[in-house]
Amino acid sequence: MLIGSRFKQRYAKKISDDYFIHPAEWNIAKKKWQPYVPKKDWWVPQYPADWDKKPASRLCEGCHQTGYDLEAKKGVEPNIACEACHGPGKEHVEAMNKLEEDKKAGKLPKVSQYVRDNKIINPGLLDVDMANDVCFQCHLSGKSIDNKTAWAIGFKPGDVLSKYWVEDAFEHGKGTYTFWSNGSANKNRVQGNTYKFSEMYKQGVKCITCHNPHGTDYKSLVYKPGNNLCLTCHGPDSPAGLTYSYQEIEEHTRHKRTSTGSDCMECHMVKTGKHANDAESRDHTFKFISPAMTKEHGVPNACNNCHTDKSVDWAIEAVKTWGMKQ
Ligand code: HEC
Ligand code: HEC
Ligand code: HEC
Ligand code: HEC
Ligand code: HEC
Ligand code: HEC
Ligand code: HEC
Repeated sequence: MLIGSRFKQRYAKKISDDYFIHPAEWNIAKKKWQPYVPKKDWWVPQYPADWDKKPASRLCEGCHQTGYDLEAKKGVEPNIACEACHGPGKEHVEAMNKLEEDKKAGKLPKVSQYVRDNKIINPGLLDVDMANDVCFQCHLSGKSIDNKTAWAIGFKPGDVLSKYWVEDAFEHGKGTYTFWSNGSANKNRVQGNTYKFSEMYKQGVKCITCHNPHGTDYKSLVYKPGNNLCLTCHGPDSPAGLTYSYQEIEEHTRHKRTSTGSDCMECHMVKTGKHANDAESRDHTFKFISPAMTKEHGVPNACNNCHTDKSVDWAIEAVKTWGMKQ
């Protein structure tokens, strides 16, 4: 079994009725093999060092297959399919087939009955927290209530995730496997954990406000490319804080507007999280990470991620000269 396509690939072999992960992974960007050593995951004490004793059924499958059944040791479909976000669909298909039959027989149901009989979850119609929970079930690092599975066993779209799942705790100033000590992403798949620190989360902007899980033409399934996505809400006359027009962006970024140094996400979604390589996953706190924070927290900052040939002190000086927040 193979997992992964963008950053890294991991492999699993079958022993008896379960899969077990190989201790090496393929680094896609660098095109090389490297060791896979999960040192600090919460489940390390429960599942000892021996790779043949780390069952993928408990540690991976719930997030990498759809509708995984731990007893039967199999999923409804491989990877992330419809039911991962819409819940079980059998009754929906039956209800819709019945609707078609009724239509053919000239019996048209009222809209209210159609909604009642629809029998499927549409995350777009759930309230903000439940809609985010659909994504958080896989993108919010934590552990199951029973402390045995690394995925939210029992959760279905439309449920409240916290009944099944304890998210990783954060204390400012304390770095963990999940967070840098300022709260930024220290690894991949912690978008939910870090997004919770953003004002946008608090104001009800959802994962699916920016991402279309059915697919788009742009990287990471975003609705619009580059700054266009952010300027949907942060453009002129917007109530969402920054109200510069496209021409005035330079006043905010201090780089030419055509420069990559004016890309919103390069300063507000800094690559801080370890994936196949260090500093590869984009931070979803949306906070600007200043060079001074590198000194205090060790976290990679916005400026030196691009200005790799310059020192942190150089960046601190530049930020001071520009009057940017330290
Ligand atoms: C709680 C859910 C969850 C668990 C448990 C989990 N993963 Fe993942 N994994 C994800 C999510 C979500 C992503 C994609 C987001 C990201 O990488 O930031 C991902 C990404 C990956 C990738 C990279 C995909 C790519 O295209 O580069 C690999 C490989 C992977 N996981 C393997 C594993 C293995 C092996 C295990 C078990 C030891 C595991 N995962 C356990 C949720 C999970
Ligand atoms: C990763 C999560 C995810 C997966 C996988 C997924 N969907 Fe969706 N789907 C959503 C979300 C979120 C919405 C609501 C979008 C919105 O309103 O912003 C949605 C909406 C819909 C709608 C309502 C109409 C519309 O386009 O708004 C239909 C129909 C639908 N999905 C069908 C499917 C089918 C069929 C599959 C499998 C081939 C699928 N979805 C896979 C998340 C997902
Ligand atoms: C069942 C687990 C699961 C659910 C539910 C889920 N994801 Fe994911 N998501 C993953 C995994 C695993 C990957 C990595 C896939 C791979 O590369 O193999 C991923 C990848 C992604 C990516 C990166 C895609 C890319 O092109 O690199 C985005 C963006 C994303 N998910 C957003 C969402 C959003 C938004 C939701 C909620 C509507 C959601 N996901 C729900 C497991 C999940
Ligand atoms: C759907 C509208 C919407 C979109 C799209 C959007 N934002 Fe926001 N943003 C908001 C709102 C609302 C706030 C909160 C404003 C407030 O509290 O005054 C906010 C606040 C912020 C803040 C300041 C507060 C914080 O979280 O620290 C930053 C930085 C930010 N957004 C960056 C971005 C970036 C970067 C993008 C593009 C990747 C983006 N936004 C896309 C609506 C949006
Ligand atoms: C070169 C780095 C850089 C770039 C690029 C950048 N910002 Fe900022 N941004 C900052 C700094 C620095 C702050 C102030 C940080 C703080 O208050 O914590 C800030 C603050 C903000 C805020 C908070 C409200 C405010 O006005 O203080 C919003 C919203 C915001 N930026 C949106 C954006 C958007 C949208 C883009 C893309 C058009 C963008 N930023 C591009 C560095 C940048
Ligand atoms: C305000 C917009 C916005 C919101 C809200 C948002 N994202 Fe993102 N996300 C982005 C952008 C922009 C990228 C990077 C796009 C690119 O690579 O060009 C991204 C990248 C990603 C990736 C790809 C992995 C990576 O490290 O780049 C995943 C997975 C993802 N987001 C998941 C989520 C999930 C889950 C949520 C909700 C917890 C969420 N996002 C909320 C804008 C957003
Ligand atoms: C996404 C890449 C990127 C980021 C992030 C970025 N820059 Fe730049 N920066 C550039 C590029 C490219 C130039 C070259 C001139 C131009 O295109 O505007 C530049 C030019 C500069 C210059 C003037 C030329 C020089 O090298 O002396 C300074 C000073 C500077 N940046 C400081 C910063 C600081 C401070 C930050 C963090 C707040 C930052 N940059 C973030 C890409 C970036």
